[in-house]
Amino acid sequence: MEMEKNMANGTPASMNVVVSRVNRSARCRCCLWMVAVWCAATVIFMLAGYDSVVHSVAVNQMVLRQGGQKYESWVDTPVPVYYKVYVFNLTNPKQFMAGDRPRVQERGPYVYLMKETKEEIEFHSNGSVTYRTKPLYFFQPEMSNGAEEDVLVTVNIPFVNAADAVKDQGFFRMVIQMAKKIHGFDTVRTLTVGELLWGHKSRVMEWARQLQELPYPHQLFGLLVGFNDSIQEPYTMHTGKGDAAKMNQILSWNGRQRLDFWSGDKCNEIRGTDANGFAPGVTKGDRLYIFNGQLCRAIPLVFNDTVMQSGIAAYRFVPPDDVFAYGTNFPENACYCSGGGCPPSGILDMKPCYWGASVGFSFPHFYKGDPKLRHMVLGLRPNPEKHRTEFDIYPDLGIPLRVKLRMQMNVMLDRNQPLERARHFDVVLPVFWFEVGSGLTARGCCRPAETCSESASSGENNQRHSLHSTHPHIFATPTCSNHSNLVWLGYF
Ligand SMILES: *[C@@H]1O[C@H](CO)[C@@H](O)[C@H](O)[C@H]1NC(C)=O
Ligand SMILES: *[C@@H]1O[C@H](CO)[C@@H](O)[C@H](O)[C@H]1NC(C)=O
Ligand SMILES: *[C@@H]1O[C@H](CO)[C@@H](O)[C@H](O)[C@H]1NC(C)=O
Ligand SMILES: *[C@@H]1O[C@H](CO)[C@@H](O)[C@H](O)[C@H]1NC(C)=O
Ligand SMILES: *[C@@H]1O[C@H](CO)[C@@H](O)[C@H](O)[C@H]1NC(C)=O
Repeated sequence: MEMEKNMANGTPASMNVVVSRVNRSARCRCCLWMVAVWCAATVIFMLAGYDSVVHSVAVNQMVLRQGGQKYESWVDTPVPVYYKVYVFNLTNPKQFMAGDRPRVQERGPYVYLMKETKEEIEFHSNGSVTYRTKPLYFFQPEMSNGAEEDVLVTVNIPFVNAADAVKDQGFFRMVIQMAKKIHGFDTVRTLTVGELLWGHKSRVMEWARQLQELPYPHQLFGLLVGFNDSIQEPYTMHTGKGDAAKMNQILSWNGRQRLDFWSGDKCNEIRGTDANGFAPGVTKGDRLYIFNGQLCRAIPLVFNDTVMQSGIAAYRFVPPDDVFAYGTNFPENACYCSGGGCPPSGILDMKPCYWGASVGFSFPHFYKGDPKLRHMVLGLRPNPEKHRTEFDIYPDLGIPLRVKLRMQMNVMLDRNQPLERARHFDVVLPVFWFEVGSGLTARGCCRPAETCSESASSGENNQRHSLHSTHPHIFATPTCSNHSNLVWLGYF
């Protein structure tokens, strides 16, 4: 009886109490609906077995609505998300230019706090919303292993791109080779980490601009130029209104419902979510997709394992091993190959969507890539723990509890480019890799309220107190252990 009563209390009215109390803690606005919905849903589930009414209430609260519980934290993520960068220092540039295999040394992480807001938000009557994101990056010296002023040797990307662009044109090959002599352009160059990421003057680009208009839209050259403090292309996403199965699904990007980078319809499909949430009711057999305009394609995710995250059973989804595999066994990936043929397995050729640049993405250290990739470069050691992309998802509600999205950017050097080292062999040279991470963490204790209050000093503890006072039965049960202490660390 008592339990039933509490269950009745666990429906919207009491959740709203939790929400409004917690709302006073500005630091953690975003967890309100999460913690409220999630605690109510799981705990009641544990106490009384699965209850479809409770589930549908929880799902309903996750629908994005203007001014709704989820809205504020969706627009302006109030929690820290970190963008970690590792760079590769080329330690044998002279020998490399003379024909040796390149030797790289990983440096970092250089850690940035990423704050993202959503702008130009427009809800449509059909249950979708259009928005643009605006990320801000702030360097975190105390979390980093190194400074933005660190100097490293890396490949001169604009020069390689110029050489790559003209590799089939005899006359321009000659122009490049002459320019190299006259202007002293080099295949490798020395830069600081800050310059490599956030932009530097490129003499090669300035020279090339005098000859023709370049597709590259920025004045300075840098790997992350155009991301900080600048508004990104618009996405249209399903809010889940009217059809929870479509919740978070990306419907279009940059005004297009299909991409046009790739040579086949399947590859050009925009599908999946932006990775901040999936549709409720994830099952082990699902093939989930995440879509991001910067990756220029949807990435599939498949179930790998059930893992405990802060005491909760989560489904770990990872990209399938063959996501970047080519060859006759993987005909579905052939549309990612350009006219010049397929890159080695493990590489996504980004030329079609990165202004023709000779750039390929892969997992860090060529994890899951063709072994020949890492035999061509010395100093790489793929390790699933450090380099795998993982989404640990709370399946009932499709909420990612912990996310590690990890990608590496490489420059593709091949034999046909008019570069003096090129005649020796093709090489895919790693430049940097990044990890975007977010997750729930269990903080503090889950013993009776008095014990918890000893350390009460932050918003998280206040929030826990609100939960204690509104859901005492939840916190009194031994099963609450880790569950009640969850603090949502956010979206990425
Ligand atoms: C990169 O390597 C060069 C020598 O090749 C060295 O001088 C420099 O300090 C290294 N940079 C970092 C960040 O380790
Ligand atoms: C809903 O309407 C918007 C704006 O008119 C459109 O971009 C979007 O594709 C529509 N969504 C669906 C599912 O039809
Ligand atoms: C990003 O932009 C903000 C605001 O303009 C600035 O304060 C910050 O230093 C920039 N971050 C980087 C890494 O340049
Ligand atoms: C999960 O990933 C590991 C490492 O790649 C692999 O050995 C294992 O077979 C995978 N499990 C499933 C169920 O796919
Ligand atoms: C969390 O739960 C696990 C088992 O579910 C237990 O081993 C661990 O001690 C708990 N941690 C805390 C902080 O209570």
